Amino acid sequence: MSIEIRDLHKAFGEKKVLQGFSLEVREGETLAVLGGSGSGKSVTLKHIVGLLEPDRGTVLVDGQAVEELEAKELYALRRNVGYVFQLAALFDSLTVGENVGLGLRRLGTMDDQEIDERVSECLELVDLPGVTERYPAELSGGQKKRVGLARAIATRPKYVLYDEPTTGLDPLTKAVIDKLILRMKEDLGMTGLVITHDMESAFRVSDRVAMLHEGRRRFLGTPDEIRATDDPVVRAFIEGRPELLDGGDPSRKEAV
Ligand SMILES: Nc1ncnc2c1ncn2[C@@H]1O[C@H](COP(=O)(O)OP(=O)(O)OP(=O)(O)O)[C@@H](O)[C@H]1O
Ligand SMILES: [Mg+2]
Repeated sequence: MSIEIRDLHKAFGEKKVLQGFSLEVREGETLAVLGGSGSGKSVTLKHIVGLLEPDRGTVLVDGQAVEELEAKELYALRRNVGYVFQLAALFDSLTVGENVGLGLRRLGTMDDQEIDERVSECLELVDLPGVTERYPAELSGGQKKRVGLARAIATRPKYVLYDEPTTGLDPLTKAVIDKLILRMKEDLGMTGLVITHDMESAFRVSDRVAMLHEGRRRFLGTPDEIRATDDPVVRAFIEGRPELLDGGDPSRKEAV
């Protein structure tokens, strides 16, 4: 069982964002996808939960093509695929507890007490006990990200998608989030797909790393393999050295 992105194409008007992106997230692993700003990382995640439809290609979750699902099946899929949004995306008018419990309430299968218990359990898992009555505005950026994570795992999904979980955080808070991502995998057995442009974080949390570049997969390998690659596009990205691209040979583009 896995998430399989197959030959995904997506354009917005004239702008071609994904142009044949393929990637498989294997059960039990955490896979990081690197890529520059605007390369289509968030767009890719949105296809996995059916928020966007492909122009061509498909995304299979446990063998089911997401774009073919009926509304009801799509809700079932979203229970199984937790989504940690890029900017936490909490509702400011709801308490932390209400935010985390939102998906559970929508399920309609749990009573208030069960929901409260699950909410507390999830907040403890992200090391934020006792904040259920607070409002998002009273939390720091790092705490909001943790609440976003607690909300994503509240329905006990099999998969968790993380959109830039460490962006904008200080190094210590980043390390805390990375530790939580590892905990989701190791203690809860969740399969993770982490979108990031933070190399350090990618290396820390992932079993494999992919790079999205010009709408396609440019690289896929272990953290050690990406560190050792001589692909100038990948090197330029991971070292933050755009000058490496000048001598890059365009014929290497399809190499991976
Ligand atoms: N709903 C939409 N309508 C029109 N254009 C869109 C839409 N969603 C994304 N785009 C465009 O698609 C491109 C890729 O966007 P995406 O959000 O996937 O980038 P990203 O790789 O996540 O970047 P970042 O690292 O900055 O978050 C961008 O040029 C963006 O403007
Ligand atoms: Mg994004």
